[in-house]
Amino acid sequence: MLTEQQVKEILKQVKDPDLHKSIVDTGGIREVKIKDDYVSVKIALQRTGTAEQMQVQQQIVNLLKEAGAESVGLRFENLDGSSQSQGGGTAQKPNPQMPPLLAPDNKTTFIAIASGKGGVGKSTVTVNLATSLARLGKKVGIIDADIYGFSVPDMMGIDSRPKVIAEKIYPAERFGVKVMSMGFFVEDNSPVIWRGPMLGKMLNNFFSEVEWGDLDYLLLDLPPGTGDVALDVHDMIPSSKEIIVTTPHPTAAFVAARAGAMAIRTDHEVIGVIENMSYFENKASGEKEYIFGKGGGEKLAKELSTELLGQIPLGQPAMEGEDFAPSVYGEDEPIGKIYAKIASEINESLGN
Ligand SMILES: Nc1ncnc2c1ncn2[C@@H]1O[C@H](COP(=O)(O)OP(=O)(O)OP(=O)(O)O)[C@@H](O)[C@H]1O
Ligand SMILES: [Mg+2]
Repeated sequence: MLTEQQVKEILKQVKDPDLHKSIVDTGGIREVKIKDDYVSVKIALQRTGTAEQMQVQQQIVNLLKEAGAESVGLRFENLDGSSQSQGGGTAQKPNPQMPPLLAPDNKTTFIAIASGKGGVGKSTVTVNLATSLARLGKKVGIIDADIYGFSVPDMMGIDSRPKVIAEKIYPAERFGVKVMSMGFFVEDNSPVIWRGPMLGKMLNNFFSEVEWGDLDYLLLDLPPGTGDVALDVHDMIPSSKEIIVTTPHPTAAFVAARAGAMAIRTDHEVIGVIENMSYFENKASGEKEYIFGKGGGEKLAKELSTELLGQIPLGQPAMEGEDFAPSVYGEDEPIGKIYAKIASEINESLGN
């Protein structure tokens, strides 16, 4: 287990990108908390919300993990104590390299979609929530943060690729949703075999090099489970809201609770649970059959002191022709309506 002293020693290597001095010397280490193998630090930089902050974030996570931390929680503030870069009379010039998505005055709400294990429907939930929010007139983007197991482009039936114009990347778009995924950069569905640092770089690029334009919501489809990759991604993305997806079986909820715990440890706020594959509705009799058990979503929501946002039954999308996409439900389909209800509730509760 690391000690506070060791953590501070390690952080001497990290420089404030603006002051070019160690964050120890700038007085930038505001708080170090250690619980078992979990290290949480609060760092003050001359300026926050910059692309450089993302680099600092990654450097700290990598250093502390190399030194034996199991997971790392990070919070940032400005050296003057404010949580945002200051404006007003002494305002600094905007950094031309600062990605608008990470700028302090950016209004985009990040929502990460997580689960305790694979195959429960995270990606399906991500693409349908995104589409439903777009149907409400919101400006929506998706980052397919499942770098190794990307699936969003296929699920949304996207044939186009992001465009690169004058060194800027413009995301692909369908159903009014802008999408960035590793899948666009991999030929012939070959597996991605990059290791940790590259993974971080790629994710970082999705935030910093992509021209997202004005977004109300950016949804992040996280890798499954609570393993290393999921943890790294949690650490790297900016603080965000989080939705946990589970199947209805009570033991599935038990596994999903770990994802909730991970969210909390990495300073992400869980805003609700979505139970997927909740039941099968017999078309003839209208009777609901609880094939995968019952009660898991409710149990998980209770455990995480959050809300059960909705229960999605089993069923395949019925959209045809031009609107066909393997995993996107139509607006008028019963499952499409359930997603629409969840989306508008989320939108209302987040005050947009
Ligand atoms: N409500 C549903 N009814 C029928 N099939 C569904 C439903 N939700 C998801 N599926 C199907 O289940 C499979 C897994 O869903 P999905 O890929 O969304 O899960 P995931 O949690 O993102 O998986 P992974 O962990 O592999 O990323 C997919 O084939 C998807 O089409
Ligand atoms: Mg997935």
